[in-house]
Amino acid sequence: MPPSMPRRGPEMTVTESRALDEIKIGGMGASRRRVEDNRFIRGRGHYIDDVVLPGMLHMEILRSPLAHAKITRIDTSRAYQIPGVRLVLTGDMMATRNLAWMPTLSYDTQAVLATDKVRFQGQEVACVIADDPYIAKDACEAIDVEYEPLPPIVNPDQAMAPGAPLIRDDKENQHDNVAFDWEVGDKERTDQAFASADVVSRISLHYPRSHPSPIECCGSVADFDRATGKLTVYMTTQAPHIVRAAVALIAELPEHQIRIVSPDLGGGFGNKVPVYPGYVMSILASILTERPVKWIEDRTGNLISTGFARDIYLDGELALRKDGRILGVRMHTTSDHGAFFADAQPSKFKIGLMHSAFACYDVPTAHLTARGVYTNKAPGGVAYRCSFRVTEAMFFQERMVQAAADDLGMDQAEFRRMNFVRDDDFPHRTPFGFLTDSGQYAKCLQVGLDAIGYADFRAQQAEARSRGRLLGLGISTMTEPLGAGNSREYDILGIKMFDSAELRVHMTGKAILRTGAKTQGQGHETTWGQIVAHELGIPSEDVLVEEGDTDTAPFGMGTYASRSTPVAGAAVAMVSRKVRAKARKLAAHLLEVSEEDVEWELGRFYVRSNPAQGVTIQECAMAAYSNMPDGLEPGLEANAYYDPPNLTWPFACYIATVEVDPMTGVWDVLRFVAVDDCGVRINPMVVEGQIMGGLTEAYAMASMQFITFDAEGNCVGSNFMDYLLPTAWETPGWELHEVVTPCPHHPIGAKGIGECATVGGPAAFVNAVVDALGGTGVRNIDMPLLPDRVHEALTEKHDVSGAPPVKTD
Ligand code: CDP
Repeated sequence: MPPSMPRRGPEMTVTESRALDEIKIGGMGASRRRVEDNRFIRGRGHYIDDVVLPGMLHMEILRSPLAHAKITRIDTSRAYQIPGVRLVLTGDMMATRNLAWMPTLSYDTQAVLATDKVRFQGQEVACVIADDPYIAKDACEAIDVEYEPLPPIVNPDQAMAPGAPLIRDDKENQHDNVAFDWEVGDKERTDQAFASADVVSRISLHYPRSHPSPIECCGSVADFDRATGKLTVYMTTQAPHIVRAAVALIAELPEHQIRIVSPDLGGGFGNKVPVYPGYVMSILASILTERPVKWIEDRTGNLISTGFARDIYLDGELALRKDGRILGVRMHTTSDHGAFFADAQPSKFKIGLMHSAFACYDVPTAHLTARGVYTNKAPGGVAYRCSFRVTEAMFFQERMVQAAADDLGMDQAEFRRMNFVRDDDFPHRTPFGFLTDSGQYAKCLQVGLDAIGYADFRAQQAEARSRGRLLGLGISTMTEPLGAGNSREYDILGIKMFDSAELRVHMTGKAILRTGAKTQGQGHETTWGQIVAHELGIPSEDVLVEEGDTDTAPFGMGTYASRSTPVAGAAVAMVSRKVRAKARKLAAHLLEVSEEDVEWELGRFYVRSNPAQGVTIQECAMAAYSNMPDGLEPGLEANAYYDPPNLTWPFACYIATVEVDPMTGVWDVLRFVAVDDCGVRINPMVVEGQIMGGLTEAYAMASMQFITFDAEGNCVGSNFMDYLLPTAWETPGWELHEVVTPCPHHPIGAKGIGECATVGGPAAFVNAVVDALGGTGVRNIDMPLLPDRVHEALTEKHDVSGAPPVKTD
């Protein structure tokens, strides 16, 4: 049935009428309920552990108890005596197949199973494949490994100290623990800016090691069929096609015989981008045993060995004119990558998109130097709900801005407003060379200030302080680059960053859409259907969305860095337009007029000279299979590869007000206002969900989350008793507002949103707590702002820096 169109009455404008049409069919702007939730809330999701294949074996990993040690002997004989054990893999066995080491997504190498030595606590040393997971676990304990301990290195200072033990002695020409040195910007011009500054404001910060901690840990089920030569791997990956390419290159299997399936994912947040040893071992185990092999990571394995984020020292300074104008920026970062540089980065940018810092401010010049070091920790630096280090960049930016405004004695909001890129200044070249193209920064700030009642709050704060109560207000404003690539600038291991969509409209007007992205809870099954509805007028409920199977989905770079809407979402719009172009030919045939005489309105073609004479998109679909004109290819389907001309640049203004208890250092969020401009919103409800989730993670990082290491390199934070996730009880209420500045180059004007709140949120909380401590001289408390650290800063009147110390009592 064609969609029923509302009647256009004289009282309704064309725009209103069109919006109503869209809402009716669940198109753009409809807060359509998430279709995937139908199965999730019934417990009918299909996650990796739900994959059960006939004859399946189970794999468990033996991990190193030590952070740095030579392996002198591994004896697997006792493990083999346990009934039900089928195979025990060690590094030496992997080495005979040239699989003991694998390339990482950042042009480094990583041990699959340790051969020479272990380089972090929790590193994979051996694995057992058995009839059930319990036998495999018991057998791991029966593997005898002898270690010769080496001095562990747990922070960059130790790593760079003269005479420090060499962690990566496996690498030729590696004589120290430096993974990379990198720089960007104009040093000379920046030096001149600093030489001419009235005031130089400085800050040094540590962004602690954190973990994306998706509720579902990692896992895989590898199934190699020797008869057909086909390898199918069901696995928790945010980027199935990259994994297929990696397996083809590492295992040297023919690419068309590799099928990677990423089923429902219980969250990813960047944790499921890297290729982990567990995946590789399960594949080899399946090839060797000729049976399906399942590996399901446990919580501790996930928290100590996979996908750490942040762990970076951020130092920098602003050159300022007395009147408040920023003249230049200097930044230096030292990032702790653990034992292997394994996080994904666009190849050109060693420290991700750190140089997106200060993109929303009109800064004439900037210079950034970055050093990455190896330590005896699990690989770090993954983009936890962020675009390749943009979280750290924006945290530094907004903490620096607060410190600079304070140093100048200026109002926080006014300092930002004065330095923002103006609305009429786009396109704008940022000091590090990005091109931003749209935004209404001052307006977003004003909406936020009005919502929080800025002037009133400052008055209340002064009054409260006179009675010994400590109130604070923190602002964080930022634009961030979402949607890598364009392919000119962005690639991973040489694979250019673009994305894709394939749309098939069946004869009854129902459709199936597949993309190269991979949802992990963001709701693509809902929102992609809305884009098709917007472009074709097919009700979104008639569009089935599938992602994550490399045998059926078109090639794409997957979902991370909030790139889905900017890139795959754009491909969905473009593929729908291709289908519409073909449907137009069918419409002309059905209406017996030439194509030029056919007009389009949502879901319907009509004759220009006689609008009452028309055909629906569904009628065109039927004709594509039953009544096509001579010479026209049958069927109604297309695919589109989309290479965006630029990144999208959403903007956010987050404002927190807090009260700090001077007796205990406990701080409470009084209010939190979020103003997000992500361009056109496909589904406002989904966007709000993304913002609320992101803010909750931001709050967690600011207030309670950290993973640290003792002097021996033992990981503290290996379970949810130590590494805290906020529940609804702790989480503050969020007050959400919107501004819409359409993206000028995106086909539907959308910008990414998924990570904005996680990126911009933390600085709002920290700025608010530091503001509450005004008058004490405290410039910084490093995250997490645990009560004892806040109390120490308040009572001792000094900054509190670095990771919280490990308490062993
Ligand atoms: O790449 P990822 O899906 O993590 O992030 P995203 O592209 O920012 O999208 C997150 C969710 O919000 C998706 O379901 C999008 O379709 C939706 N979204 C939206 O409805 N409108 C926007 N302007 C941006 C995202």
